[in-house]
Parts: sequence; C-alpha cells; structure tokens
Amino acid sequence: MPNNNVILPPKMIGIIGGGQLGRMMAIAAKYMGYRVAVLDPTADCPAAQVADHHVKTAYDDETGIRKLIEMSAIMTYEFENVDVEAAAMAQQQGKLPQGTAALEVTQNRKREKTVLYESDLPVPNFSVVTNAAECEAALEQMQLPAVLKTLSGGYDGKGQQKVTTKDDIPAACTFADKHNACIVEEWIAFDKEISVVFTRAQSGEVIFFPIGENEHKEQILYKTVVPASISETVYQKAQEAAKVIAEKLNVVGTFAVEMFVKDDAIYLNEMAPRPHNSGHYTIEACNVSQFQQHIRAICGLPLMPVRLLQPAVMVNLLGEEAQTAFSMTSTWQNGFVHFYGKEAAKPKRKMGHITFTDETLAEVHNRFAAYKEETK
Ligand SMILES: Nc1ncnc2c1ncn2[C@@H]1O[C@H](COP(=O)(O)OP(=O)(O)O)[C@@H](O)[C@H]1O
Ligand SMILES: [Mg+2]
Repeated sequence: MPNNNVILPPKMIGIIGGGQLGRMMAIAAKYMGYRVAVLDPTADCPAAQVADHHVKTAYDDETGIRKLIEMSAIMTYEFENVDVEAAAMAQQQGKLPQGTAALEVTQNRKREKTVLYESDLPVPNFSVVTNAAECEAALEQMQLPAVLKTLSGGYDGKGQQKVTTKDDIPAACTFADKHNACIVEEWIAFDKEISVVFTRAQSGEVIFFPIGENEHKEQILYKTVVPASISETVYQKAQEAAKVIAEKLNVVGTFAVEMFVKDDAIYLNEMAPRPHNSGHYTIEACNVSQFQQHIRAICGLPLMPVRLLQPAVMVNLLGEEAQTAFSMTSTWQNGFVHFYGKEAAKPKRKMGHITFTDETLAEVHNRFAAYKEETK
C-alpha cells in the first residue's frame, strides 16, 4: 500500500549532532541509500566524516538550523541536549517526527523522574532540593548511601555526587548550593543494571530489542552482555514499563530505558530519546540494528521484527584504552571493531567499541577474555 508520509531514498536526512550516535545513524541511512546532512560545530566530527553535508554551526544557531531544515526531507537528533527551540522549528515544518516532548522530559531529571513517578512506574526514592539546607534535610530523611544529580547536562556520571556516609553530607550540601537545583536520590544496591532498547513507529507499533545487561565502571558504561541473565518476570516487567513510557511520551524512533534490578523488582533510572550505547551490539548481533530501525521509524517505513542472531558482548573503548586495543591482534581477531574517528583521546572519552559475538555466551566470554588478556 503506498503511503504518502514515507520518506524514501535518496532524500536527505538531517541529523542534529555529529557524535558517534549520529555517525552510526548516518551509516545506517547511507546503507539504505539516503543522503545525510549533519549539524555540529566541530570540524571533521564523527558523523560529518560519513555524511554528504556538514552544517558547521552551534546547535542553537538559527541560521544553521534553518539551513539544515531547508536541505532535509526529514530530521532527527542524536542526543537529548539539542536546543528545544531548534527542534521545535523543525517540528513546525513537519520535519521532526520525534517531536519535542520526549526531548523536554529527558533533558531534565526532575521532569524525567516526575513523569516516571506519575506513570506509577517504580523509581528510586528521590526529592528535589534547591540549596544546602534542603539538601541536608532531604539526606536526613533518606537512608544512605544516596546520590545527588544535577537536573540537566549530566552524562557518563558527570554532574553527580555520591553520599556514602554522614561524613559526605557537607560536600553534598556544597554541591547542592553550587547547582541551584538537584535531585537527591536513594542509592539502589542493585543486582544488575539492564536497558530496554526499543523502536516505536509513527503508527504506534513498538518493537523491542533483546534486553542487555550493563556493567558500568566509574558510572560510565563499560560493557553490555546479551542476552541478560534475568528472570522472565523481570523481563516482562521491564518491557511493560518501557511500553508505558513509549506511549506516554508518544515516542517515535529508537529509545532506551535504563533500569536497576534487585531480586524480582525493577527501578527505572534514566531514559534516552535516541539510540543508546547499550544497543550498539544490535549492529552485528541482530537482524536489524537500533540505528536502521531508527531511520525506518523516522522515515515512516515499516519496522522489522527483531531477532537476536547470536549472543554478544559489547565493550566500550575509552580514552587511551582505545589506542592500546587498536594495536592488538586479539582485538581484530575476536570482535567487530568500531572507531568513531574522534581526535585527541581525552581520558574517559568514548573513542570506539568492540562487539564480540559467537554461538554461545560462554564462547563470547572467551573471546572477550582473550582480548582482555592481551590488552591488560
Ligand atoms: N540511585 C542509584 N543507585 C545505584 N546506582 C546508581 C544510582 N544512580 C546512578 N547510579 C550508577 O551511576 C550510573 C550513571 O548514572 P545515571 O543516572 O544513569 O547518569 P548518566 O548516565 O547520565 O551519567 C548508573 O548507570 C549506575 O551505575
Ligand atoms: Mg545513564
């Protein structure tokens, strides 16, 4: 059946943001035959390297945004900290099927937690504080450990302050004063962290990717293992919770919900209105990747039913680590290597990732172990 709202190749897809997520979206789009334009202030940024056009301006530069809107048949963004006004301009032109609602919610932890809480979804206990006195009062009410998080701009553990014992309270109060408003949140002694990555079509259809189990190091994603070893009960709860959010925020495209698992309970932690680091494994381990599915959704194409082809372990390459991994035989022998084309390896910066796959999870772990052994 012909559908007039479908954007077909070789039309131009405009991506706001030129990092690795934009790059992998662009590659998926190019693979299908689309043209790609990227807006990002950095010359030779990861996505610009694989795109047809680079609009090199700040994310909130009106001239830049107008240019991108004009040249694109449809648009998307690769991260949630894009300028909402810029996104709204694209939406008004009928070119941003994702809309701005999910952006506005995920840009701000207070709005994010409030939406989850009001949707009757389980979240860690939290309160919002605006100064040192309120912070102290909130921490007195809460069992320690706890964590303070800034309302906006945080990622990879940035903008967070952990409160392990009473001795940490003064530092927490200083942090609260410095940041105007923060979330104070109970620390969950979780068994596991998981993420539910799914794609929602403009028709409302939701298709899930297999749930991944995430391991963080110093609050940065270190690796994702698929399939996650969680009970059927947790699997169901996690997908149901994600579906509630998908509908509530009228999600279009690929979206991720991070959760903590303790016994058979889940706690929703964070959401991302875009493809997610924990979904990179889908490129090699699934019949369709989170990026391809995202492009399909924003272009109004039907989504593909998702199948896991093989178990997988995805490991991030941060900072200097990437350089070591790059030169090792086992890196290339055992896994699928992705380098994002970033310059200067700043400490902790995500430079690339490797996905290991094999017939069984035990064999995948062996590949990973061999790589670790050579790069240690
Ligand atoms: N309340 C919490 N309880 C336990 N661990 C937490 C909590 N909040 C954050 N963390 C840990 O820190 C990581 C990063 O925190 P998150 O809130 O996801 O922020 P971001 O990913 O934006 O830096 C989480 O994936 C988790 O490992
Ligand atoms: Mg997170």
